[in-house]
Amino acid sequence: MSDSLAWNARYEAQPWMFGRAPNRYLESLAPRLPRQGRALALGDGEGRNGLWLARQGLEVTAVDWSATGMARAAAWAAAEGVPLKTETADLTRWNWPEAHFDLIAWIFLHLPPADRAAVVAGSLRALAPGGLLVLECFTPAQQGRRSGGPKEPSLLWTRDMAEAAFAPLQLLECLEGTVHLEEGPKHQGPAEVVRGLWRKPD
Ligand SMILES: C[S@@+](CC[C@H](N)C(=O)[O-])C[C@H]1O[C@@H](n2cnc3c(N)ncnc32)[C@H](O)[C@@H]1O
Repeated sequence: MSDSLAWNARYEAQPWMFGRAPNRYLESLAPRLPRQGRALALGDGEGRNGLWLARQGLEVTAVDWSATGMARAAAWAAAEGVPLKTETADLTRWNWPEAHFDLIAWIFLHLPPADRAAVVAGSLRALAPGGLLVLECFTPAQQGRRSGGPKEPSLLWTRDMAEAAFAPLQLLECLEGTVHLEEGPKHQGPAEVVRGLWRKPD
């Protein structure tokens, strides 16, 4: 079974496993995010972050390789009457536009190193000058905690990794440490994350 089918099965078995509210870190950045323009929600699952960004007035593309997740996101957006473009695609093979997005949200998307490098390169390419990139992912210290995240260590992020990955961007903030997650049944309780905000130079 490919990983996209495995994610389909997870979303079928437990709808809204990461909740319907947006990621708390992304939401906390609302005053600093663009109020208009184009946004890309990477690995957006069932659409909670893409839909929230669309509600803020952004023109959002949500991409995830889970057809189940994207279908749920599209149905949710239609029910709310909020425009949301959904694409079912493997981000490592996606046709990344150049200098296109004013905001990219990379929330709990954990990839093998080569895939991560491809998606980092795509994100750097796709950000417009002045565009922002928001990241929140689990760190190796999350291992053993029950608040979510992959078990495979190579999928996890550190602050050093994030700073190196997004070195061509201006680092606005980046922290690694313990936070309290309340994001659906899968992300509950103390958690170890790296979270940060970067800006592409003009
Ligand atoms: C932990 S979930 C997080 C979902 C969403 N970002 C959220 O915070 O609610 C990770 C998501 O990444 C997606 N994903 C993993 N690898 C992917 C890839 N190569 N291309 C597209 N989506 C991928 C999965 O299908 C899943 O929906």
